[in-house]
Amino acid sequence: MTDMKKSKIVITGGAGFVGSYVVEQLIDDGFENIVIVDNLFRGSRENIKESLLTGKATLIEGDIKDRNLLDNLFSGCDYCIHLAALRITHCAEHPREALETMYDGTFNVLEACVKHKVKKIIFSSTASIYGQADKFPTDELHHPYNNYTLYGAAKMANELMLRSFERMYGLPYIALRYFNIYGPRMDTFGKYTEVLIRWYRMIKEGKAPLIYGDGKQTMDFIYVGEVAKATIMALKSDCKNEVFNVAFGKETSLYELCNLLLKAMCSNLKPQFVDVPLERRKVEVFKRKADVSKAKKLLAFRAEISLGEGLTNLVKWLDSLEMTK
Ligand SMILES: NC(=O)c1ccc[n+]([C@@H]2O[C@H](COP(=O)([O-])OP(=O)(O)OC[C@H]3O[C@@H](n4cnc5c(N)ncnc54)[C@H](O)[C@@H]3O)[C@@H](O)[C@H]2O)c1
Repeated sequence: MTDMKKSKIVITGGAGFVGSYVVEQLIDDGFENIVIVDNLFRGSRENIKESLLTGKATLIEGDIKDRNLLDNLFSGCDYCIHLAALRITHCAEHPREALETMYDGTFNVLEACVKHKVKKIIFSSTASIYGQADKFPTDELHHPYNNYTLYGAAKMANELMLRSFERMYGLPYIALRYFNIYGPRMDTFGKYTEVLIRWYRMIKEGKAPLIYGDGKQTMDFIYVGEVAKATIMALKSDCKNEVFNVAFGKETSLYELCNLLLKAMCSNLKPQFVDVPLERRKVEVFKRKADVSKAKKLLAFRAEISLGEGLTNLVKWLDSLEMTK
């Protein structure tokens, strides 16, 4: 393991939400040669400021569509954590960009891994590949045919590319299907701010948080730090050529989530139910609950940070942003 910590790790998308935690935890763990490649389309230097100051991580501002850049970066690389991707909504609005980043970009990363004899690649897949699952808890063998999103299609294609590259060239891989990630540094300013951020703002203004519909839709929330932990455990593990769900393994309804957020913000307000606005009527996923037993068994990973605790961290961070406004 001592040797592994000296190895060169290339992290695509490492300046993003999840990536910035992965970089931080790798440094805390003793890794000292981390190369982040990120085009800063969504990520930022601010996210990785502390990590860059340690001198153990460097940021190359570049794009995974740039094959020459990847060829240079991957020279001498031992491991790769491939996180760079576009968001689900962005893929739907700009399908060709999705093709270029998610399919071609990932292909470029895999090609560079093979050329430079990378020992293992960890890939960030998603629960979106299940679409609205038929079975709960949903295990990794669940079929992908309920997915109707281009983002989910690209991630599934990426997993299949990994399988074929392993078979053709012997490139070892692990694909992690992340579920609903939340925590400090999550997107607050995008066009599609997440429900938690919308509620946070309403509660701050003393207004009852609005729940569209009956609030019974469920998700399987996992704290961002735990996702980073699972990613590093997958990297360090002897396990290879496997796919894992990365989730808490517990479903939480939007109604419960709203109440937990109110509690984390010490608010006495009550959620208010309203009709779903027209533009939001096409909800494709009503229920999510992952089977997390495979990750527990093969990677010894189990999420431990409760939603209440994680939301308290999120609120602290959001409050700190408010203060700097
Ligand atoms: N956040 C979630 O809830 C969630 C859930 C499931 C899966 N995932 C997956 O986990 C990974 C990390 O997600 P995140 O939430 O940190 O997203 P993010 O958008 O914060 O991070 C992705 C990073 O990739 C960078 N990037 C995008 N296109 C690039 C390109 N062409 N070249 C180089 N860099 C590029 C962005 O600038 C960003 O920093 C992604 O692959 C995402 O699909 C996330």
